[in-house]
Amino acid sequence: MSEAEIKNLEEAFEARIERDEKIEPKDWMPEKYRQTHIRQMSQHAHSEIIGMLPEGNWISRAPSLRRKVALLAKVQDEGGHGLYLYSATETLGITRDELFEQLHSGKAKYSSIFNYPTLTWADIGAIGWLVDGAAIINQVPLCNTSFGPYARAMVRVCKEESFHQRQGYEIMVKLAKGAPEQKEMAQDALNRWWWPSLMMLGPTDNQSVHTAQSMKWKLKRKTNDELRQQFIDQTVPQAELIGLKVPDENLKWNDAKKGYDFGDIDWDEFWQVVKGHGPCNKERMTARVSAWENGQWVRDAAMAHAEKQAASLQKEVS
Ligand code: 3HC
Repeated sequence: MSEAEIKNLEEAFEARIERDEKIEPKDWMPEKYRQTHIRQMSQHAHSEIIGMLPEGNWISRAPSLRRKVALLAKVQDEGGHGLYLYSATETLGITRDELFEQLHSGKAKYSSIFNYPTLTWADIGAIGWLVDGAAIINQVPLCNTSFGPYARAMVRVCKEESFHQRQGYEIMVKLAKGAPEQKEMAQDALNRWWWPSLMMLGPTDNQSVHTAQSMKWKLKRKTNDELRQQFIDQTVPQAELIGLKVPDENLKWNDAKKGYDFGDIDWDEFWQVVKGHGPCNKERMTARVSAWENGQWVRDAAMAHAEKQAASLQKEVS
């Protein structure tokens, strides 16, 4: 293809983005657009799958049948979100096996937030309230992202995230209004999950290598810092409502900006966790890889059954 032809295609593509048209898998797109979507969407999918591990730890320890059922439903939802997002990523011309190889070999990232331990039942409340709360803030704009399959996947995911956030906050309300030990447990969980939840929304904008281009392509509709500020402004009143204190002595309402000023985030900690040196990185990957390896027989059996079904169908029609 000549340079002039490529230039025409690029200009037509930019015009489509400008007109807020949805780009579909079979449409022409710049290779960099394709690659950045494979990167972000697959890391999103990996995050959903790895995110099942910290919460899965508490399914058998839930304090009541009701809490167990809600947590079970949430963890199953996360698995479904992961599969949904893997399917959307595959439309860009990468196979599921390649995606899993990237995750299991450590080549692909997943969200830093899932590399922290869940030490008490209150952590399950804090994860639903804070992590899923941040996820909703991050994912609602993605419902309007330029790549069709990603935008459509996000519509369903966000509906389920709202249930996740509500059940988490309900756990925190119960504990905060419970016995002093329960309130202490809720405050301890908030202390441990607050700052990692702020980090989950990505590095500050001037450290973000992808934000500028992702905003141009309408992959991102808001920057990392805008999403973080929105999360803080929404969540601080929720903590105060149940008598919990956000662990940031620099947190202060700024009437001029109609938002909270907040303390410095420990970006060294963030990058350490992203680079694999967080409290649970090794444990998470070991659990994930062994689940994959131990599940090989299930995949083989499912494939054998599918082949048998296809063969008998073939026989019927011939
Ligand atoms: N954890 C790990 N890596 C992170 C990160 C995080 N929290 N935030 C950023 N990074 C990485 C980026 O992947 C990028 O590295 P790469 O070039 O090797 O991919 C680098 O740090 C620079 O960051 P950027 O801000 O430039 O990267 P992005 O533009 O991709 O922004 C993001 C980061 C805001 C997380 C964006 O990728 C995004 O919105 N992703 C979709 C949502 C998502 O993945 N959420 C993760 C949690 S899923 C979840 O919460 C499920 C819920 O059910 C609990």
